[in-house]
Amino acid sequence: MDIPKVLLPKDLTQPTYTGAFISVCCCVFMLFLFLSELTGFIATEIVNELYVDDPDKDSGGKIDVSLNISLPNLHCDLVGLDIQDEMGRHEVGHIDNSMKVPLNNGHGCRFEGEFSINKVPGNFHVSTHSATAQPQSPDMTHIIHKLAFGEKLQVQHVQGAFNALGGANRLQSNALASHDYILKIVPTVYEDLGGKQRFSYQYTVANKKIQIGKMS
Ligand SMILES: *[C@@H]1O[C@H](CO)[C@@H](O)[C@H](O)[C@H]1NC(C)=O
Repeated sequence: MDIPKVLLPKDLTQPTYTGAFISVCCCVFMLFLFLSELTGFIATEIVNELYVDDPDKDSGGKIDVSLNISLPNLHCDLVGLDIQDEMGRHEVGHIDNSMKVPLNNGHGCRFEGEFSINKVPGNFHVSTHSATAQPQSPDMTHIIHKLAFGEKLQVQHVQGAFNALGGANRLQSNALASHDYILKIVPTVYEDLGGKQRFSYQYTVANKKIQIGKMS
């Protein structure tokens, strides 16, 4: 039986500089592809999806709020949180799950609180309304350390406006001014790689400063 003989053309067996060059280029290119795919695989990717529906249907129509604010020139006895909304809620001096920390040798106060609000238009404010005696000229200058809505995200530095007011500093403003922040909050679902979902909110802020002559 004839064994077929394979004869390679001679030019395929000769090493050439061009051939070597092409081989090296291929290796470099393959390495580049490998590394770029690898970094793409390792890097975390945040995918944004927009819902029109309310994604968090189990919340019972409530949103958790977490607030941390310092008023360096208002005594803790005067500081209180009031919550009001269109469903008829009107609460003055909400104290559940909140803490007042004296600052500035007792001249100031830090208010840290967690409370929930209804998913209807409304407002909450830090004021002196709950104090037994209203001060003549309450100094409402403040720094907001944190204002966040919904479930807490465990991850740090997620892009987005989850704590848009964090760091807002109104220490240099007129002491007697009252500060209104008009917030629009948007439901945001954060899902990690394990598929665990957290129902949080992002918000935008418009700031309005009102001079007050008297307390309402
Ligand atoms: C509130 O903010 C202050 C100042 O940044 C910080 O020291 C404090 O730990 C915060 N409190 C909470 C409950 O996060």
